[in-house]
Amino acid sequence: MQVRVRVPAKVNLHLAVGPLRRDGYHELVTVFHAVDLYDELVAAPGERIELAIIGDGAGEVPADERNLAWRAATLLADRTGAAPKVRLEITKAIPVAGGMAGGSADAAAALVACDRLWRTGLSRTALSELAAELGSDVPFALLGGTAVGTGRGERLTWVTTNETLHWVFAVAEQGISTPAAYRELDRLGGGSTTAPDALLEALHHGDIKLIAARLYNDLQAAALSLAPELQRTLDAGRELGALGGVVSGSGPTCAFIAASRDDAARLAAALAAERVCLATRVAAGPVPGALAR
Ligand code: C5P
Repeated sequence: MQVRVRVPAKVNLHLAVGPLRRDGYHELVTVFHAVDLYDELVAAPGERIELAIIGDGAGEVPADERNLAWRAATLLADRTGAAPKVRLEITKAIPVAGGMAGGSADAAAALVACDRLWRTGLSRTALSELAAELGSDVPFALLGGTAVGTGRGERLTWVTTNETLHWVFAVAEQGISTPAAYRELDRLGGGSTTAPDALLEALHHGDIKLIAARLYNDLQAAALSLAPELQRTLDAGRELGALGGVVSGSGPTCAFIAASRDDAARLAAALAAERVCLATRVAAGPVPGALAR
């Protein structure tokens, strides 16, 4: 028997980074959005925990106990008493260190896959609690869709939307580590507690132009400070017809909204021709979170 799980990348439509807490995390008000750019994880019976990683950027990801998917399998085994025996194979398509929560996605996928393989039968709520222990973005990778995140990002409220958003992601050559982006924001004087009310209103009305105009990310200043060349990418996206653009999460991937799938394809080609990024990806959202197939 083997279990195959597909798990989406995320972009933050809104990311207000509040004060640094005593536990080293920042208090967030964010709006997560899952897009159809997927990592795939296959879990099969093994002698112990084993991990192989293939696909885009696989060489940059540790395939040992430092990997969040490995830690997810260990945590699930510890809490349920299941024997920690599984062979995990992850095929990466989500950019590594790209601000799209690829590592968190893999952890969510490992939880879903091992729960199925080991027949531990945890509820989605129980899985979500384990997910929050693993990382701030892991509960959202389980849930998917569009959701407001508070606390350190792990407390989620579903947002109902009707419109599909068409995205172009401009992937950068060099990744940015998430802690480095948060540290840089603190060094620059910190973020804000800006509420996403106007964005939520635009989402409610399905007004894509307004949604695009309301994209907001406090970590963008930190990403631009660490990688100033991203300004060119953001400017190029807007000049080439994006309805709006923003750095995704802690960066360096830049995310652009287009009016349609065709416009997104055209924008991706134009960005590639301008050579303002390493690669482009066209995607759409929202999509569900980690699902066994
Ligand atoms: O939760 P996760 O392990 O994914 O977070 C990675 C790092 O990002 C944390 O160690 C912290 O430096 C930073 N972070 C933060 N505040 C948050 C979420 C993440 O400072 N709310």
